[in-house]
Amino acid sequence: MGRGGNVSEIALQARHLYKVFGKNPNQAVRRLKAGQSRSEVADAGTAAVIDASFTVNRGEIFVIMGLSGSGKSTIIRMLNGLLTPTDGDVVVQGHSVTAASAGELRGIRRQSVSMVFQHFALLPHRTVLDNAAYALEIQGVAKATRLAQAREILERVGLGDRADAYPDELSGGMRQRVGLARALTAGTDILLMDEAFSALDPLIRREMQEQLIELQQELGRTIIFITHDLNEAMFLGDRIAVMRDGRIVQQGTPEEILTDPANDYVAQFVQDVDRTRVLTASAVMEPPHLTTPVSAGVRGALRTLREQQASAVFAVENRRLVGVVTDRAVIRAVKAGTTDLRSIVDASVLTVGPDDLLTDIVERAVETPVPLAVVDENRRLIGVIPRVTLLAALGNVSPTTREMPIIQTPIEMVAQFTPLVDAASEGSLA
Ligand SMILES: Nc1ncnc2c1ncn2[C@@H]1O[C@H](COP(=O)(O)OP(=O)(O)OP(=O)(O)O)[C@@H](O)[C@H]1O
Ligand SMILES: [Mg+2]
Repeated sequence: MGRGGNVSEIALQARHLYKVFGKNPNQAVRRLKAGQSRSEVADAGTAAVIDASFTVNRGEIFVIMGLSGSGKSTIIRMLNGLLTPTDGDVVVQGHSVTAASAGELRGIRRQSVSMVFQHFALLPHRTVLDNAAYALEIQGVAKATRLAQAREILERVGLGDRADAYPDELSGGMRQRVGLARALTAGTDILLMDEAFSALDPLIRREMQEQLIELQQELGRTIIFITHDLNEAMFLGDRIAVMRDGRIVQQGTPEEILTDPANDYVAQFVQDVDRTRVLTASAVMEPPHLTTPVSAGVRGALRTLREQQASAVFAVENRRLVGVVTDRAVIRAVKAGTTDLRSIVDASVLTVGPDDLLTDIVERAVETPVPLAVVDENRRLIGVIPRVTLLAALGNVSPTTREMPIIQTPIEMVAQFTPLVDAASEGSLA
């Protein structure tokens, strides 16, 4: 979805990572490379991660998704050197983590990569503020400075007024925010989050997801987020890696994974995804066929409505959306002898942006009888979303219609008014 902007600088790279736990890790890797399966090498060890490669760009949220036991935590622990890969390499901002000495590793963790755990790991005898400032304390930052920075971050995560509280006085969601604040205060470019929201109840979890995206946009950090919840993955991820049995089976944007799953396994996963939180207007919009230039006047609008058998048409001027014109308004205008289309355009038409999520659009769509107009920042009409298209997208039925659906009962223009209309278009409107 490109929320991370158009940065393409590389923050982190995993190159052919393997991690085998057990008696004979190296032998297991050799056999895996020679083509043996995970279960075939089981006598040599548990292959937790098998040949995982991916690149995370600066400023993006990269999600690693998979069922329990698929290897997610093992991967993320290799990213900051908590675990040493059996084979392969991790490169953070140009430096190999695998080749780093213990001292260099500490430096990487302090300066480049911080981690947020599922179970907060807050220090119980310290205030929220001191917890949030903890990473800076370890970095040796002066007290006044670190407290000021921590206060600012607490403000951002909505805990400004709880700075003096102790962790056990907070709700789970608040504690997790402190954990997030602590990781953010550390100032590292890369944030590793392992099931950071999984312990939260659904509503708070959603709030945290939204807040994380906001924070990420404001602060431009790189986030590697682990979850076993595909909805969460789809909502947060600029890109997602789907894991199964130690292997990455697909990588792509949420839309790519949703619309083009690499195999049955992924397809089955995405079946239950809440599409409204993934798909954007631009992903489902159709070309705006039903338009009429304002300069074509009432008569031009009438012709378009009749030819297309539609009940409304979008009036445009230099490709910019002026508004919507309904068949009723056109008929009234024809009867009244009005020729200027602008005078009957309803400019209050609902518009959406190309990056708006369907979840935000659905509500508006039920309020409007005409398709939603998708406009860019210059109000140019770049697409339309008929309600049938929206419904089809939500139900994952391939939308084939290009018609404007008749949602209002069409007035009996054709049957009853045809003679009148014809007379009018041949006469006063000529
Ligand atoms: N220290 C270890 N020793 C032995 N086996 C391990 C170790 N850590 C993980 N494993 C095994 O490696 C596999 C992957 O575990 P991992 O914790 O990476 O999975 P996960 O995807 O994070 O799962 P979850 O969603 O349950 O956290 C599992 O089979 C697990 O039992
Ligand atoms: Mg895990």
